[in-house]
Amino acid sequence: MSTLLTRRSRHAGVALAAVLAFFGAADVQSAQPTALNPLPDAEVRARADTLLAKMTPEEKAGQITQYFNFGDPKEAKRVQDEVAAGRAGSLLFVHDPVELDRLQHIAVEKTRLKIPLLFAFDVIHGLRTIMPVPIAVAASWDPKVAEDGQTVAAAEARAAGLHWTFAPMVDIARDPRWGRIIEGAGEDPYLGSAMAVAQVRGFQGAYIGSPGHVISGPKHFAGYGAAFGGRDYDEVDLSDNELWNTYLPPFKAAIDAGAGNIMSAYMGLNGVPATGNHWLLTDVLRTEWGFKGFVVTDAGAAHDLLTHGLAGSEADAGVRALQAGVDMEMSPPFGTSAFKTLPLSLKEGRITTIEIDNAVRRVLEAKIRMGLFEKPYVDLKQAQRVLTDPQHREVSRAAAERTAVLLRNEGDLLPLDLNKLKSIAVIGPLADSARDTLGPWVFAFDLNETVTVLAGIKAKAGSNVRVDYSPGVSLPVRLNPSIFDTLPAAAATRMQVDDASELPRAVALAQASDVTVLVLGEAQIMIGENASRSSLDLPGRQQELLDAVIATGKPVVVLLMSARPLDLKNSKPGALMVIWYPGTQGGAAVANLLFGEVSPGGKLPYTWPRNIGQIPLPYAHLGSHQPKTTEQRYWNEPNSPLYPFGFGIGYSTFEFSNLKVDRQTLVLGESVPVSVEVRNTGSRVADEVAQLYIHQRFGSSARPVRELKGFQRVTLKPGETRTVQFTLTPAELSYWTAAKRAWVQDETTFDVYVGNSSQAALTTTLEVSKVRR
Ligand code: NOJ
Repeated sequence: MSTLLTRRSRHAGVALAAVLAFFGAADVQSAQPTALNPLPDAEVRARADTLLAKMTPEEKAGQITQYFNFGDPKEAKRVQDEVAAGRAGSLLFVHDPVELDRLQHIAVEKTRLKIPLLFAFDVIHGLRTIMPVPIAVAASWDPKVAEDGQTVAAAEARAAGLHWTFAPMVDIARDPRWGRIIEGAGEDPYLGSAMAVAQVRGFQGAYIGSPGHVISGPKHFAGYGAAFGGRDYDEVDLSDNELWNTYLPPFKAAIDAGAGNIMSAYMGLNGVPATGNHWLLTDVLRTEWGFKGFVVTDAGAAHDLLTHGLAGSEADAGVRALQAGVDMEMSPPFGTSAFKTLPLSLKEGRITTIEIDNAVRRVLEAKIRMGLFEKPYVDLKQAQRVLTDPQHREVSRAAAERTAVLLRNEGDLLPLDLNKLKSIAVIGPLADSARDTLGPWVFAFDLNETVTVLAGIKAKAGSNVRVDYSPGVSLPVRLNPSIFDTLPAAAATRMQVDDASELPRAVALAQASDVTVLVLGEAQIMIGENASRSSLDLPGRQQELLDAVIATGKPVVVLLMSARPLDLKNSKPGALMVIWYPGTQGGAAVANLLFGEVSPGGKLPYTWPRNIGQIPLPYAHLGSHQPKTTEQRYWNEPNSPLYPFGFGIGYSTFEFSNLKVDRQTLVLGESVPVSVEVRNTGSRVADEVAQLYIHQRFGSSARPVRELKGFQRVTLKPGETRTVQFTLTPAELSYWTAAKRAWVQDETTFDVYVGNSSQAALTTTLEVSKVRR
């Protein structure tokens, strides 16, 4: 993927610049090793082997076991005893710097071999400073947003004493019922790969052990996003075609970018549970892709080999996971550990010393590369300084501004002109909910640093414009509670109201105001892990609220706080903008967008169906019998999406012209530059995302009607024209075919499309032949 490679090297510079900005040049210069001098492989291995030679089987099994520490006193005691006995290699979920430091002192000072712990945590979109959720970042179509955000996340995590994050999630998601769609980059492998690479670079920096960075662990290997019915944790049955062409590429890209860890998935893939799947974890990951890092299971996934009906006992589960290619077990909270049985299995000859040593070595190597033996402890003053760095909040605000996707803007309702407004009604259950503004998968935030939409609008509107607020309605609670509901970090900050009286009050406010900003969507607990949903409707009585506010006839701007496409039942507010879960500075960013300080420039990273019954509806589908009647596949409604993949408008208009493929005919193996002119034809500075799609007309397999193969976000002044350059390389023109069970590049003809969505109209062709014509 040479396009990605080019981007990657550019980002190395960005990452280093960001580090310099955060830590000051002097800190970076004095840090060892330097970017030019990472530890040599041979030295790392020799140091790991010296330690390995001293370890007992129990210490080895412990070294490749990771324990949860949620703070439950009894469990914390059990885990601490394991640490003190030298039988724990890693802990997850501890994130308080003081506690991390205390536990590290136990590991280093009390154990026989003084091996430090590797501390891991789900730093998914920020630790203290919360960035927009990952699907939002994908909607920016700007890998720099992803890299900058994860650079901040890494800086905070590392300063707090963490060494490793279980991120990015690079699972492709084509079913919005699946709650974890929020954690990834959406439906497309090319966009997903670009976001994966950027995040790995942001988290890890130039190499594993870079100052201010952590190990990145892309997950969940592999296919988790294709769970039956979008039901979290359910089985996955994927064709090889889908696996190779759609679900695996972001993992491959993340590994090529240097990711130091991979997490094996929970579910069964084609009948073989991912965590006991030798083909996946060894044949593909190590033999074919050359992955050099360590593999961790998802929580309790080794034990789950019993649940899946693969292993016959806990010991068998441990053996199968290890032999499939797992290096570390994330043992289930409060549960038994499959890897604890490994010493016995070793004694009984069911595993070999080489097998267990390979896993232990990989974990020790990660600790050596991270410099933990030299610097195991937390600098608490530095932690405090980094965690509260106001510059991090600026990065978060800028990111949120670039992630919003404007879907409707009738009569240029947006941007709102503060000089012409006297009153704004801000309505909706999510308009002033700080916790929901942050989204799921965050635990160490400070709500005092969080700006809600209401707060953002009030701050911007100043004293000349009256801002009234009503939640309108309450949001319902989940029928099936989530494990995350029980954590203090989930505590809702939403106002509970009596819908019967509040809804009419809200409508009256809308009636009495010049404009209404209606913030609707799903509470953060309704999306994420364990948050799949069988409906895309607005939860609770929000639809009723929406219809009633629109019926006032006053201008209505709907802001959707959501990470899945929602079904608004054909209601047509003047403007509709997806703001996702925009993070710590979400409200400030939203206000800047509403009042036109910046123009929305995000694009949908997934197809938005008209109706849940259309799912799955990827834009990259195959052509089939009677393509002309594709739109009439259902008798009751059109089959096209409501909004296509890649769609999003802004406060200006753009024109694409002069699409040129440098040479119309190529020889197999050659690359070709493609260029297009993009012109801002409106009257405001705004962003556009030039998107390149291809369609292979014939070949070894049928190929999708469109496939994204390049994109670039540009900012243009009114009247400005920019020539955007892409390169189509053999990587973009190749694919995996089930006909040959191999990667191929065919002699064929491609349609090339460039424009501002997956429905781009500007087109040309490209011929690929064996010999020069
Ligand atoms: C389970 C989730 O599937 C995974 O993504 C996460 O990293 C682990 N739990 C640890 O929290």
